Amino acid sequence: MSNPRDRLEREQVYQPAEDSQLLATTVSDEIGPTDRVLEVGTGSGYVAGQIVGKTGATVVATDINPHACRSAAAHPIEVVRTDLADAIKSQFDVVVCNPPYLPTDPDDELDDWMEYALSGGPDGRALVDPLLEELPRLLTDDGRAYLLVSTLTGIDAITERATAFDLQIETIAEEPVPFETLTVLKITLKH
Ligand SMILES: C[S@@+](CC[C@H](N)C(=O)[O-])C[C@H]1O[C@@H](n2cnc3c(N)ncnc32)[C@H](O)[C@@H]1O
Repeated sequence: MSNPRDRLEREQVYQPAEDSQLLATTVSDEIGPTDRVLEVGTGSGYVAGQIVGKTGATVVATDINPHACRSAAAHPIEVVRTDLADAIKSQFDVVVCNPPYLPTDPDDELDDWMEYALSGGPDGRALVDPLLEELPRLLTDDGRAYLLVSTLTGIDAITERATAFDLQIETIAEEPVPFETLTVLKITLKH
């Protein structure tokens, strides 16, 4: 049984759910043992841990939440506490992200770490848009990114934004759940 301190820590970290599982399963089929992988917003480290376990790839993971960073460090990955990927200066074959994507009214925003995990701002794309902008810097020439989003996030708007940054985008997995369809987008650089 966990002690109260561990429980408090766990309550401040997004625990793996259907979205985490869909992303982990989908990307594990797309990654090989020599790939260098960056996971942005790793939370508990579940997705990163699954990637290492299933593919043997090397994974670096970021999160802005210090509790998440501590939790993720239990996996055989390198964890960096940073906003998005600001402290990451190298390039990766694969970038993976299950961002906070729920559209949230500013009046309903809570000031806690779970809000960071869930709220994507008024349009749901507060983290998605800056990540798209960062992908050309983070990806190797033939690199690819996998982004878990939802019909609530506005997939047409993401596609339009990606095109503006010279990125190609395709849907490679979908899973209907109550109130939304979870979607994995594969994003590559246009050549
Ligand atoms: C929906 S959770 C996903 C967690 C985990 N990847 C999973 O699939 O179970 C989103 C994660 O992104 C992190 N996050 C939110 N804003 C961030 C930012 N600006 N920079 C880095 N991580 C961020 C949150 O702390 C949270 O751990």
